[in-house]
Amino acid sequence: MQKILAPSILSADFKILGEQLRQTAEAGAQYIHFDVMDGDFVPSISFGMPVLSSIRGVTEQVMDVHLMVTEPIRYVKAFKEAGADFLTVHYEACEDLHRTLEEIHKYGMKAGISIKPNTPVYMLHPFLKEAEMFLIMSVEPGFGGQSFIPYSLNKIQELRGLLEEKNPEAAIEVDGGIYHRNVGEVLQAGADVIVSGSGVFKGDIRENTAKFMEILKQY
Ligand code: DX5
Ligand code: ZN
Repeated sequence: MQKILAPSILSADFKILGEQLRQTAEAGAQYIHFDVMDGDFVPSISFGMPVLSSIRGVTEQVMDVHLMVTEPIRYVKAFKEAGADFLTVHYEACEDLHRTLEEIHKYGMKAGISIKPNTPVYMLHPFLKEAEMFLIMSVEPGFGGQSFIPYSLNKIQELRGLLEEKNPEAAIEVDGGIYHRNVGEVLQAGADVIVSGSGVFKGDIRENTAKFMEILKQY
């Protein structure tokens, strides 16, 4: 599977968001990672549907939406209408995860399941065939700019092993604290989709993206 970069716009400059997205696209980033926070599942509040529909119009990039929201099933239809391609929900946030994933598929999106740093990989067992993407959080969800939790590498490896047997087509995404200096070990452990906020948007966006793409190509 070709490795993918998903810049997280949480660290972008919102007054020139369209321009910044264009820079990531031109330098090769295939996805845009869109972090939705509700002030309940996580302490902070970020942005939602109206922002997604407005950026949907300015880029061809795949919209990878990460819902850090309690009972996300309530918003599946709205995010489809706003332009989401992938809709990732948190294992910890859903009363009925099976039904939430069904709902995402019903609206024609790809489904992702995310787990927080303290949630063990074995919790995903019943759902391994029910999603197209599995997101390992390598920081506590809620804020950009935190440090990568090293134990996440073991979780990526463990999940890779399980998916090889149960769902080899599924992608592993990793989110939080990833920079040029440590992305190699994340890829080595088995990640397919790399999320980076600060690592892309702090400094020269074109250069940062191009350097990530250069490293991704080596795996
Ligand atoms: C954290 C978000 C991340 C965040 C990553 O809750 O899910 O996507 O933007 O930011 P960095 O790359 O700065 O850790
Ligand atoms: Zn995220």
